[in-house]
Amino acid sequence: MSNTDVAAARAYHDATKHSLASVQRSGHVLDFANMPLPFKVYPQLPPIPLPRDFTLSRRPALAAIVADPGAVDDGRTLDLATLAHILYFTAGVLRRRAYPGGDAFFRAQACTGNLHHIELYLACGELPDLAAGVYHFGPHDFALRRLRAGDHRATIVHATTGESAIAHAPVVVACTSTFWRNAWKYQARTYRHAFWDDGTLLANLLAVTATLDIPAHLVLGFVDDELNRLLDVDGEREVTVSLVALGTAAPPPPSAPPAPPLGCETLPLSAHEVAYPEIVAAHRASSLSSPDEVAAWRAAADAVAAEPRDRLPPSSTFVPLAPSVAPAHEEPIERVVLRRGSTREFAREPIGFDVVSTIVRSVSGRIPSDVEDTARGDLYLVVNAVDGLAPGAYVVERDGDTLVQLRAGELRREAGHLALGQALAADAAANLYWLVDLPRVLAHLGNRGYRAAQLDAAIRGGTTYLAAFALGIGATGLTFFDDDVTRFFAPHAAGKSVMFLMAIGRPASRPR
Ligand SMILES: Cc1cc2nc3c(=O)[nH]c(=O)nc-3n(C[C@H](O)[C@H](O)[C@H](O)COP(=O)(O)O)c2cc1C
Repeated sequence: MSNTDVAAARAYHDATKHSLASVQRSGHVLDFANMPLPFKVYPQLPPIPLPRDFTLSRRPALAAIVADPGAVDDGRTLDLATLAHILYFTAGVLRRRAYPGGDAFFRAQACTGNLHHIELYLACGELPDLAAGVYHFGPHDFALRRLRAGDHRATIVHATTGESAIAHAPVVVACTSTFWRNAWKYQARTYRHAFWDDGTLLANLLAVTATLDIPAHLVLGFVDDELNRLLDVDGEREVTVSLVALGTAAPPPPSAPPAPPLGCETLPLSAHEVAYPEIVAAHRASSLSSPDEVAAWRAAADAVAAEPRDRLPPSSTFVPLAPSVAPAHEEPIERVVLRRGSTREFAREPIGFDVVSTIVRSVSGRIPSDVEDTARGDLYLVVNAVDGLAPGAYVVERDGDTLVQLRAGELRREAGHLALGQALAADAAANLYWLVDLPRVLAHLGNRGYRAAQLDAAIRGGTTYLAAFALGIGATGLTFFDDDVTRFFAPHAAGKSVMFLMAIGRPASRPR
């Protein structure tokens, strides 16, 4: 199956839509006796403990969140302490809570069902206090484990067809998803979650690296098999999802040593695993199989012309965003990450229009990547309770500074329904939905565009968490009834597909 046969991405997306009927007939029961291990553990490999004596940055969190992560000065040597800082505030275990069924681990990033299925690996050249190698990050004991010795970055340069951000990065982060750890609960819909949950993680990573003055560049075009082989993952149960080049100042790496299969032992995840062929098919169909295919894919992304603007009815009500606001208590991004946790109940209290405006701007910035804006969607809002902004439905204009009112009036009941009937969406002050013109993205980028569209929205969703907590309010990701959301925002959203949903507002209980 080829990347250009986009019926595959379409079929996956359609088959995994939630509707009232699909949820009612699901019948899926959680088998707690077979719940997967929440970590990838290599019992035979010696841990390289990561230092935990972090010095918090002085830059206010919002400045790090809105910074263009590709344009920050490359002012920092990447060493073990810096990597530890990045890894802890990107994906570290921050809290552990005992439940009757076992301990739950809460991490720096939000994740569907708290079923953290994204693994992080590093490939680096020689660093001041870390030998060149390919490493796995173990959040369970906050340690690295070396999978391969030697500088293997040239393999990634090859797999990305000479992508220059990779070629000059002293460290490349690779993110994988181990589907079963999430599919245990979410079944075939987990393929969406691979990008959702990688996106919330990357939102943290981009903000933390920006605050540390480390340029970061996301790369989605790579030969899948070459990356999977390098990380020694099988490409079906665990797959590479994204790459991030950290730093810009390294000379191009030397040729890489051979990378034979490792056969490292890892602890079994569950007594047995259930396969979801829809996931495997969607991933295969969006895989790139040769450096030439990667080059053509990247060229297609570069060639995409400026997007045609949605035609708005002449009677539209335009509302300029309010000036951005600074938080009452400025704190660095690390403290925001430590306080972040999905809001479990919203008070039906208003938030300010300036707060909403600041969040909308914070999540509308550039994400430096090999696809740039090609797969970016539009941001729609349901406003329930915002001082200075009439309740109703809105879309953010492409200038990122103006709202267009699509519907006026109280929409709490509708917002609750769209989020699978969850009170969180009805009680929130506002809901943010990213919808993308999927046929257009797939026409340009093939099935791989599906990955890019999900990930772009998810990074913006993850950034919403950070911006909301930086501003002293709460937030949570939510799932949704796909087609009902599109119909709700029609005709403006006709033909678009929902990628991500966030609710923001005042928590009912005191925030952390
Ligand atoms: C993409 C996404 C979708 C989510 N959907 C829901 C949801 O539908 N309902 C809900 O109560 N929480 C939802 N959550 C919140 C997760 O349950 C929460 O992130 C997880 O339990 C970890 O907790 P933490 O965010 O406090 O670390 C979602 C989170 C994400 C990132």
